[in-house]
Amino acid sequence: MYRLSRNDKCWCGSGLKYKQCHEKSDERILMPLKRMGYPIPPRRLLLNKEQIQGIKESAKITVAILDTLEEMVKPGMTTQEIDDFVHKYTVDNGGIPAPLNYEGFPKSCCTSINDVIAHGIPSAKTKLKEGDIVNIDITTILNGYYSDASRMYCVGKVSDEAKQLVEVTKECMYAGIDAVKPYRPVSDIGNVIHDIADKYNYGVVRDLCGHGVGINFHDDPLVEHYRQKRPTMIMVPGMVFTIEPMINQGTWRGRTLADNWTFITQDGRLSAQWEHTVLVTEDGCEILTK
Ligand code: MF3
Ligand code: CO
Ligand code: CO
Repeated sequence: MYRLSRNDKCWCGSGLKYKQCHEKSDERILMPLKRMGYPIPPRRLLLNKEQIQGIKESAKITVAILDTLEEMVKPGMTTQEIDDFVHKYTVDNGGIPAPLNYEGFPKSCCTSINDVIAHGIPSAKTKLKEGDIVNIDITTILNGYYSDASRMYCVGKVSDEAKQLVEVTKECMYAGIDAVKPYRPVSDIGNVIHDIADKYNYGVVRDLCGHGVGINFHDDPLVEHYRQKRPTMIMVPGMVFTIEPMINQGTWRGRTLADNWTFITQDGRLSAQWEHTVLVTEDGCEILTK
């Protein structure tokens, strides 16, 4: 990783000489951190401009679907109807819904209602009803590039406590996004999220995490949304990953149903989740699924 001659073209594909591009961050910032024992990302996790552009194009589909669903989600709608829309919109725009057939997942998106933490399977038998809160999670592949985002939707009028959970979870996601700073550890993200959840006595899910994304569906780094005892991988400009906290009204603990996907709260109370795909930049981060 560090044997490049200073006058060679930079490994990132910028076309600049290494000494005018990544040399400074590689040698003067990352090497000392590495010596101090911080895990630093392998170079394959640092994406080039072309790859980032590809993720942004993919994200246009993901975001358009999430936006359209804001108007579509109504009491009486089945989650299969949501899935049908997601599949058609994605394919009509040249994309592939990443969840479909992913490790045997049978549908094109995840629809997680009320006590479902994540990975709810759309079904013609499942009707949204007034007062439900539902997370719809969309991952699109376009020209090989993945973008992953999810939002909460309130079905008709929901209770104040459900609304509070939805809003606080969104606040958690944005606080996590604000904690993305180059050369800081990924663990900063979970630390700020956990502090907010604690104020409300909410549980922070530990079994599912954010993840590197872009050229694969799930890659390093692992992005824990809960408090860490020690710093984890250093964030470096060019890394792309998701921040997708799942916050529970009660216990953080969950369990998986017999379908091997649906992950629900152990105590039957509500769970909420919001997700964005972000790019680490020189001065913070850029949300790619805006
Ligand atoms: N989109 C989910 C995530 O945020 C993963 C869903 S995997 C599936 O990582 F197979 F359930 F679709
Ligand atoms: Co994700
Ligand atoms: Co997702």
